[in-house]
Amino acid sequence: MQDLRSFIGNLSINAPDQILVIKEEIDCRFEITAVLEKLHRIWKYPVCLFENVKNLKGEPGHRVLANMYADRRRYPYILNLPSDNYMMGPVLKVAQSIEKPVAPKVVSKEEAQVKQVIKTGKEVDLTSFSIPVQWELDGGPYLTSPVLTKDPDTSVYNLAIHRAMLREKDETGVLLGEYSHNYLNFKKYEERGEGCPVAIIGGYPPYLGLASYARLPKEYDHLHFAGGLIESHVRIVESETWGKDLFVPADAEIVIEGEILPNVRKEEGPFGEWLGYTGHKTLSPVIKVTAITYSENPILCTIHAGRPSENMLHSIMDGAILYFRARQISPLVKAINLPNSGCGRLIVYASMKKVMEGEQMNVALTLATEKSKIVVIVDDDIDVFNENEVLWAVATRMQPGKGVHIIMGTRGTPLDPSIYDPPTHDVMIIDATRPLNKPFNPVTKVPEEFMQHISLKIPLGG
Ligand SMILES: Cc1cc2nc3c(=O)[nH]c(=O)nc-3n(C[C@H](O)[C@H](O)[C@H](O)COP(=O)(O)O)c2cc1C
Repeated sequence: MQDLRSFIGNLSINAPDQILVIKEEIDCRFEITAVLEKLHRIWKYPVCLFENVKNLKGEPGHRVLANMYADRRRYPYILNLPSDNYMMGPVLKVAQSIEKPVAPKVVSKEEAQVKQVIKTGKEVDLTSFSIPVQWELDGGPYLTSPVLTKDPDTSVYNLAIHRAMLREKDETGVLLGEYSHNYLNFKKYEERGEGCPVAIIGGYPPYLGLASYARLPKEYDHLHFAGGLIESHVRIVESETWGKDLFVPADAEIVIEGEILPNVRKEEGPFGEWLGYTGHKTLSPVIKVTAITYSENPILCTIHAGRPSENMLHSIMDGAILYFRARQISPLVKAINLPNSGCGRLIVYASMKKVMEGEQMNVALTLATEKSKIVVIVDDDIDVFNENEVLWAVATRMQPGKGVHIIMGTRGTPLDPSIYDPPTHDVMIIDATRPLNKPFNPVTKVPEEFMQHISLKIPLGG
């Protein structure tokens, strides 16, 4: 089982260029984001382990980890794949895991690293953590962590990443999109006049963040899915507040337990959001924190919102779900990529071997979700991970009068500043596949045997 510390250790030994340890004292207000932003400007995305961060009281010495998901090359280390299998490999592994869930295993408190320190009642103080203030216009410090709730009728666990703004030392807001499964769970409790048991997983093993991000059917248990990702059970332990009514991940670094209060909404936001724009203030549910448990010298995980740190997570996880769906329509779908240029969601490139005219459009319609605005379908000789190749196919295999299809008025994301009011969006499908009913000029190429026996000996420097 891979906890966060063994993941860090593994990277340090086997991929040291993928991890940066920052020992200098740094503040959780803006300074962490400033480091990540400077790295972003030079397109560098190592995991950043800040070892000496000041908490919200100004006390140094706390640990924060960022950029865990920012680079595709990291996913083989999370998903136990060969290190060079980082393009379609993670997408395929996640898609396959959907069909192979593994049930979690309950362990005792003594076996749970997250129970090394337990704070309850008046001892609860979120300001003793280094919760980052990320962007200039943000309403406060924000946790960007997996939030765990349970369906009171089916006992199915849901994990999803939600922003949670710190308001008091024992209170946060939480933005639960009305489509989100955590919101639907919360509503069930609220309609009964009850608070919803909740846990924010403030520091976590890498696979748990992946499992939290997956948009699975509501009846699919995210803890079982997390087990499928690592082909082993996730270890869980009773929470302090809810006992057996809410189990929490035993191998987490930090668990913040509480209750989402019924019939209470408070202003939260703004927050520098996923698409790179500041999102609106909202009236959101409120979490009353009842206990915080953590390991010794815990590591808080943060996601640099609206940058590859978040976009790559979208790309891999939404890519896997879309691949899974598209393959149900056509087994000839080869690869799928949700590039960073579309923030890992708004743009979808898919390649397929076209054997029947029209099938590419069936596939494209499957990919036209509430998040994707541009879907480009190309032939299977095009590498969807090479944006130049995709755009070359669009430029040379497609006429806009025939190849561009616009579907108007589907549900979109309110975070998109260009969205209509009320919030619907349009999807543009670009069919850049070659027609089957007429000859198409062959692609230029050198005979394969010459490509094989010629090797470049000229220096390519400068
Ligand atoms: C950094 C980050 C922050 C997010 N914040 C929110 C949020 O505040 N509210 C929300 O509803 N979804 C948020 N999401 C998206 C959800 O995690 C995602 O849509 C998830 O699939 C929803 O889970 P569900 O299918 O179980 O509802 C965020 C995602 C990331 C990566």
